[in-house]
Amino acid sequence: MRSSRSSSASRSSRSSFRARAAAALIASAAVIGSLLTAGSGVAHAADTPLRDLGAARGKVIGTAVTGSRLTGTYGDLAGAQFGSLTPGNAMKWGSVEPSRGTFDWAEADRIVAFAEAHGQQVRGHTLVWHSQNPGWLTGGSWTPAELRTLLRDHIGTEAGRYKGRIAAWDVVNEPFNEDGTYRSTLWYDGLGADYIADALTWARAADPAAELYINDYNVEGVNAKSTALYNLVRSLKERGVPIDGVGLQAHLILGQVPATFQQNIQRFADLGVDVAITELDIRMTLPSDSAKLAQQKADYKAVTAACAAVARCVNLTVWGFTDSDSWVESTFPGQGAATPYDANYAPKPAYYGISEALGGTTTPPPTGACTAVYTVQSQWNTGFTGNVTLSCSGASLSSWRVTWTYGAGQRITQSWNADCAQSGAAVSCRNAAYNGGVPDGGSVSFGFNASWSGGNPVPEVTLG
Ligand code: G3I
Repeated sequence: MRSSRSSSASRSSRSSFRARAAAALIASAAVIGSLLTAGSGVAHAADTPLRDLGAARGKVIGTAVTGSRLTGTYGDLAGAQFGSLTPGNAMKWGSVEPSRGTFDWAEADRIVAFAEAHGQQVRGHTLVWHSQNPGWLTGGSWTPAELRTLLRDHIGTEAGRYKGRIAAWDVVNEPFNEDGTYRSTLWYDGLGADYIADALTWARAADPAAELYINDYNVEGVNAKSTALYNLVRSLKERGVPIDGVGLQAHLILGQVPATFQQNIQRFADLGVDVAITELDIRMTLPSDSAKLAQQKADYKAVTAACAAVARCVNLTVWGFTDSDSWVESTFPGQGAATPYDANYAPKPAYYGISEALGGTTTPPPTGACTAVYTVQSQWNTGFTGNVTLSCSGASLSSWRVTWTYGAGQRITQSWNADCAQSGAAVSCRNAAYNGGVPDGGSVSFGFNASWSGGNPVPEVTLG
């Protein structure tokens, strides 16, 4: 083990007060809903943040993020629940150098600064890939020597810029085909398989403290592709090439966690490298229902348990923590709901699958429930726009009424997609003629404008 890794536990404990405070803020201000079946207001915020559960077991629980979204509830949850952040796109070559010699570090910088402010690690993703490269690079015509210089300079520039601030770099991403042969890419075709060793060596020179990983998908179980990765890592270590870990992406399909997942993690650990689950998501055919969500919980729990069982499995990162920030729906039409939080930031059974595998005492919200979540969408000096979203899972509604009591004199002036009435501090909103039905797996939203002064705390809402 390299010494930089041991700092994660102390970083996590230094930040635990901040994390708990943020979690409490979320519970009181942003993600308050009510379960129709439970009858009274129940906050869905977790008892113990995933990052704390993980830290207690020597695991860093992370998420991929979109830098521009790191505010509001998204930012609160990203900061409170996770111990590491991976930029989903912001550090890819096409993002940071869209024109040759012209760099855009804004989103990557923002993510790194956010992580440092929240006591989180950053996993850098990714220095060498066949995809999301800039057009000037892929459209160019390069001699092998030019290509090698371009790659060396890119790694030096990017890893050098964040020197000392990145816990681990996915140095090389997705080098293999499914049958274990090398993927034909700009790099392999131009430079041969040694581009991998060279990239690792250049990354080590640029940032000696960062753990250096090779990352791939469909390598979670023991199969031809993971065996090729295993053989590569073994040979790199034999040659003295710097390699510290392997990333198993884990873009999984509901009900298909490989039976050999833990065995596979263990064999890499036995080679003397760390393992990270780097991009976990588990997609299902839409719409989701309670049975699928229960299976997804079991799958998330199985993956987390496999990592928890192997000491050198050091990080488990979800590829987006909310269904509103996932690549799945746009890539696999008709598939989705792949992450641990729904699009309204309510934790799904999957969240509790991770939590339970880490020894968390939280239990999943009852299945067969409809919830209402109140959020302040925008606010100015005298007014604000609010939104309430009703969501059903394993249950449905044919009509609804949402009530709350304002504690700071707020007054609703206008509403849409619901008939709202306010008497004193008490507000009651009923469905409009056209949106009383909320199907299993569906949601309905309504909005309103209101005035405020002094303070604008979020009230607890009741769905009945
Ligand atoms: O930023 C542009 C935006 O300006 C434009 O309007 C829009 C229109 O399509 O595209 C936006 O870029 C998209 C980008 O994500 C940011 O949202 C790209 O089209 C889209 O292709 C890109 O997808 C990313 C994908 O990698 C590319 O292969 C996903 O967000 C990202 O989650 C995904 O991540 C990869 C990992 O890096 C490696 N492992 C697999 C994983 C899933 O594909």
